[in-house]
Amino acid sequence: MRIMIAAVAAASLSLVAVLVGQTPQKKTASATSIARGKYLVEDTGKCGDCHTPFTEKGEPNKEQWLQGATLPFKPIVPMPVWADKSSSIAGLPGWEKDAAIKFMMTGIASNGLPARPPMPQYRFNQQDAEAIVAYLGSLAPAK
Ligand code: HEC
Repeated sequence: MRIMIAAVAAASLSLVAVLVGQTPQKKTASATSIARGKYLVEDTGKCGDCHTPFTEKGEPNKEQWLQGATLPFKPIVPMPVWADKSSSIAGLPGWEKDAAIKFMMTGIASNGLPARPPMPQYRFNQQDAEAIVAYLGSLAPAK
């Protein structure tokens, strides 16, 4: 008898756990993912240094956050390939989600080529690449 009560109690406890756990967990996962992506973009990848225009005071222009910029620097030795402008990556316009994740993991875009320097060829792991893409996708694209 005791064993049965214990078993029933355990079963209903795990049912409660399942009921409580499910839906909210999914939501938290994507909010967590976006928050991690924001951290990776802002503090690790420093994407804004190149992808956000600067104001005259030399501060990143928050109103055009990650909307692409003319780079404020040039190579001091001639570089055969060099991009003077960075792309607008707020909202990741024109990118399929999977291609964007692959790009953040390999540095190779869907045309099979890396972006031109000085865009770094990042090698984020899958989870971090997904987080970055989730964060960038959550931003409003440039008007
Ligand atoms: C040192 C400057 C620099 C940094 C830092 C940088 N980028 Fe870039 N990025 C560029 C430039 C310049 C281009 C344009 C390259 C081109 O036109 O070929 C670019 C292009 C891109 C593209 C478009 C690639 C394509 O082939 O269309 C994406 C997406 C991108 N960057 C995402 C990011 C993300 C995300 C980060 C941060 C994790 C980041 N970039 C950090 C300079 C930078």
